[in-house]
Order: sequence, then C-alpha cells, then structure tokens
Amino acid sequence: MTILVTGCAGFIGSNFVHTWLSSSIEPVVNLDKLTYAGNLDNLKGLEGDKRHVFVQGDIGDRALVSKLLAEHKPRAVLNFAAESHVDRSIHGPGDFIETNVVGTFNLLESVRAYWQELPEAEKAAFRFLHVSTDEVYGTLLPTDPPFAETKTYEPNSPYSASKAASDHLVRAWHHTYGLPVLTTNCSNNYGPYHFPEKLIPLVLLNALAGKSLPIYGDGQQVRDWLYVQDHCRAIARVLEAGKVGETYNIGGWNEKPNLEVVNTLCAVLDELKPRADGKHYAEQITYVKDRPGHDRRYAIDARKIERELGWKPQETFETGIRKTVQWYLANQAWVEGVTSGAYRQWVGKQYG
Ligand code: NAD
Ligand code: DAU
Repeated sequence: MTILVTGCAGFIGSNFVHTWLSSSIEPVVNLDKLTYAGNLDNLKGLEGDKRHVFVQGDIGDRALVSKLLAEHKPRAVLNFAAESHVDRSIHGPGDFIETNVVGTFNLLESVRAYWQELPEAEKAAFRFLHVSTDEVYGTLLPTDPPFAETKTYEPNSPYSASKAASDHLVRAWHHTYGLPVLTTNCSNNYGPYHFPEKLIPLVLLNALAGKSLPIYGDGQQVRDWLYVQDHCRAIARVLEAGKVGETYNIGGWNEKPNLEVVNTLCAVLDELKPRADGKHYAEQITYVKDRPGHDRRYAIDARKIERELGWKPQETFETGIRKTVQWYLANQAWVEGVTSGAYRQWVGKQYG
C-alpha cells in the first residue's frame, strides 16, 4: 500500500512525512511544486529511503497526477499543497486562487478518474483527505464559543476564501460523485521547519538577529496554537478512522493573544540564548501597522475528534514552544538555507 501526499516539502507536510515514516513502513509519494515555501532541506534524512518518492510538480497538472496515480496506485491522497500565508494573499491573491481553488479542482478530477476505475473493495477503502484551516469560519468575538464543525463559513481574507472554496469543492465531490473524502480544519501550527514569514519563526529569527519584532496593530488578536506534530498525528488518525464525508476540527485549546505569544517566546530565548548585552529580547518588540481585515480571534472546539477518534494533543503550548526554540537553535544550517532564499525578497514588506 502507498499514500500520495501533496505539498509535503512545506512546513506541515514535511513534518507529516517524518512523523509518518517514523512509525510506518507504508511508502509515501510526495508531490510538491517547490514554490518559495517548498524546501527540500525539510526532507533531509530521507535521501535513499525507498519509502519516500519525491516528485516536483503541480497538483493542477492532470497528466502528471494521473501518471503518478496509475504508477503508484495509492490507497489514499492527502492534500496539504496550498498557498498558505495570509499576508501574501493580501499583496497578491492570484496564486491563491490558482493553487487553492483551481489546483484543488484539478486534483479532485484526476483523483476521481483514478478512483472510479478501482476494483470495488479498493474503491470503498480509498480516501481523499483535504487539509484545511480554521480561518474558513471567519472571526470570533471574545464571548463567542470556539468554532465547531457546524459553524457557518465566513472567510475574510483572500487566503481563507480560497481555502473555503477548496473545502466546498471537496464536499461537492463527495456528495455528487461519491468520492470518499475527509476534511480537517486546524488552528495555527508551530514547530520545526516553519517558514520565517509566519509570526513564531519570524519573531524567533528576528530576535536572534537583533532585529525588531513586528506586532500588527495592538497585538491583542487571538490565535489557537497547536504543535505541528500533534496536527500530523491527528491527520493520521482521521485517515485511519475518520467517517467518510465528515469534517474534523483540530486544535489544542491554546488560545493566546499575539503579544503574549511573543513575550513567551522572548522569555524562553532569554533563558536558552541570553542576549550578549544582558537585555531582554522583549525590548525588540515594535508595533507596526495592522493587517487589513485582520481577524480578531480564532478558537477551535476539538471535542468531536477527541470524542469520536480518541485524539488528544501531546504538547502544551509551554512544552511545544520550548521544543520549537530548541529546534531553531540547534538547526542553524536549515535557518541559513531558508533565510538566504526567496524569503529575502519578502522581508520588510509590511502594510503602509
Ligand atoms: P507551506 O506554505 O509551508 O507549504 C505549502 C507547500 O505546498 C509548499 O511545499 C509548496 O511548495 C507546496 N505547493 C504550493 N503550491 C503547490 C502546487 N500548486 N502544487 C504542488 N505543491 C504546491 O504551508 P503549510 O503551513 O505547511 O500548510 C499546509 C496545509 O495546511 C495548507 O493547505 C494550509 O492551508 C493548511 N493549514 C496550515 C496551518 C498553519 O498554521 N500553517 C493551519 C491549518 C491548516
Ligand atoms: O489559523 C490557521 C492559519 O494560521 C493557517 O491556515 C495559515 O496557513 C497560517 O499562516 C496561519 O495564519 P495566521 O495569519 O494566523 O498566521 P501568521 O503567523 O501570519 O500570523 C499569526 C498572528 O500574528 C496574526 O494575528 C497576525 C500576527 N502577526 C503576524 C506576523 C507575520 C504579527 O503581529 N506580526 C507579524 O509579523
């Protein structure tokens, strides 16, 4: 048996491949376009491992995807591939529509054609798992309950609108064609291999480089943080036991205002890698112009996956953030590789 995964040279996908192969002999075919966010350094250690086949390509390339499906005959396709950064979607939404909407459509069509021709038993066992986000639900007031799977979709950014569109396509391919789909909607991830355009790795690396730590607006926006390997374990559990056609919200009950996240990071850095001048990293915090349309609060109600599939996160925010800081401090070669690449062209592009 084999699984085909997409977008697994990126942050979450590469963590998924490492987590998967650490506990399974089942091979993984990894299709990734290697955009600015795709990084083969994330897959280091897998060279020569026959269980991992890397293919550079686009999820929207039907000829390529059909060829891979025919050749490897996967029992499941897991779609991680996406344009994932909200700020980039504000500066240039085109790629988000292209990959997240049109790309997912083309991927679904390639998979449907393959799935329809499978023998009955394999057809019934096949799964298409779509990895999505809590951002599709919109924003919460401080008094609102966390997002349950029944919450209406109210996406507010070009990124979240494109992910919402892809979720709807996946849903429709199940209801119309019977494709056995599963969708997961997860909160903010953090951990190893996180590209330093996102808050946690950006602040970490800026702090160490003596640069300012940009806080959008008043820093009181709330995100619900989950250690990436907990997300990966949840996806594996949904693939294994999720009910076809269902969606599962994934989160660790870790709501935190951004300013608190940054202060916690600074405190862990003060302890593990004190500044040479004896001052605190938090002194580098700088308030900058807010993100347009900035969602105020996300929070996940994870009771369904906990109750029905028995999944629970293994890390608290405190243990996860410490592991993350330790990983970045111990992986300077990875940091140098990533900061010398296309990321450079993005640095400093804020609102104004
Ligand atoms: P990422 O930006 O780090 O990685 C995305 C990967 O997809 C990259 O390797 C990139 O090269 C690849 N890719 C992009 N376009 C492609 C295309 N057309 N064809 C093939 N490959 C393509 O993203 P991430 O943070 O790892 O997110 C992975 C998935 O999880 C996304 O679908 C995202 O929406 C979702 N998600 C992310 C978070 C988070 O906090 N990062 C939370 C919930 C859900
Ligand atoms: O909620 C899940 C989503 O989390 C995923 O679907 C997205 O792919 C992922 O990028 C993430 O989106 P966010 O916009 O929440 O993540 P980001 O790290 O960009 O920002 C986190 C919060 O920090 C957000 O409120 C904006 C703020 N921020 C971000 C950056 C980059 C700052 O204050 N300063 C910054 O420099």
